[in-house]
Amino acid sequence: MNYKISKLQVTNFRNLNPDIITFSNGINCILGENGNGKTNILEAINVLATKKSFRKNTSFPQFLSIDGGKPEIIFYSVIAKNNENLSYSSKMSNEGVLWFLDGIPVKKKLDIKVIFINPFDSYGFHNSASERREWIDYFLCQLDEQYKKALAKYTIALRFRNTLLSKKPSKYKEQINASDKELSELCVYLTNKRIELCEIIEPIIGETFQALFSEKHMLKITLDSRIAGMSAENVLKMLKNNLETDCERCHTSYGPHKDDYVLLFDGLNSFDYCSLGQQKMSYLSLLFAYIELFRYKYMSYPIVLIDDVSGELDQHRWRRLVEYLEKREFQVLITTANEKFKEELDRIIGANNIHIKNGSIIH
Ligand SMILES: Nc1ncnc2c1ncn2[C@@H]1O[C@H](COP(=O)(O)OP(=O)(O)O)[C@@H](O)[C@H]1O
Ligand SMILES: [Mg+2]
Repeated sequence: MNYKISKLQVTNFRNLNPDIITFSNGINCILGENGNGKTNILEAINVLATKKSFRKNTSFPQFLSIDGGKPEIIFYSVIAKNNENLSYSSKMSNEGVLWFLDGIPVKKKLDIKVIFINPFDSYGFHNSASERREWIDYFLCQLDEQYKKALAKYTIALRFRNTLLSKKPSKYKEQINASDKELSELCVYLTNKRIELCEIIEPIIGETFQALFSEKHMLKITLDSRIAGMSAENVLKMLKNNLETDCERCHTSYGPHKDDYVLLFDGLNSFDYCSLGQQKMSYLSLLFAYIELFRYKYMSYPIVLIDDVSGELDQHRWRRLVEYLEKREFQVLITTANEKFKEELDRIIGANNIHIKNGSIIH
């Protein structure tokens, strides 16, 4: 489903005043000095669409304005669904979240897809295998419902196995043996899906890199996995052979929770070879490649939220990025406090500029 946000008004969300913010279907630039509420606008859209923040360990108590009277956040929005306008609102409190379509309560929220891009996350992505896994799992879960279910099952099964390994209740080895067959099947399923993603995204990521930065570099992504190419029977054998070591270590040594993704920049590992700027470019290329994959799967784009993109990329690359965005059909909201980057954004014909100061929209 192709959703775009046309209007948003929030009450009691962080520092934002209940002004009506109007968005265009194309590029929206959110401008203002640091600490005025640019990221909060993106976060409000993320919360309306997904119930969650893109910030970790953040939920209703953090969203709620510290100045607010009633402990309740109201989101009112106009959503364009294909070419029809929907009035969509949501009420969030300690009790949970309620949704309304055209003022009428609905049981399920709209399935509005958003992708949040914060180039600062590039640092974590390049420095931590678990962040890479989390990111790519997040993509895969958005693209593939079966993968999402299998991953949830695997996470529960792994947690159970690790609890047995550390607490060692009576007959714990028998319990582990009894559940390892299902675990090994899940291992193979998840690994194959991850490899498949790398294979599908590979041609797109290279093209995206060139389109974004007009520089000829080869960018590839591969999965570094102990399980790659193994059958479920062989994974089961490996788990059995390793059980004594796992007992000593009190956790499971092998499995998709240990996988790593390697980004290859001209054949070299981007994590230890690339400059910070190149790492950001690779990271952005991966995200935009994912957006193309998303479109291929759903025949529509997510709403793209880009926060503070200017650091570490030089002006020439910002220009390329802005030109790239101009050619896309997705709705994009991009924030910046950087005057020079703002100049680049000002060149975009037809872009919608939103100025924010102390949580208020300035007209
Ligand atoms: N729950 C809250 N209630 C009121 N203000 C908040 C809350 N959470 C954050 N803020 C304020 O929001 C501002 C930060 O907004 P942010 O959107 O991150 O700014 P930026 O424009 O730099 O992206 C800060 O001034 C902060 O004090
Ligand atoms: Mg910000």
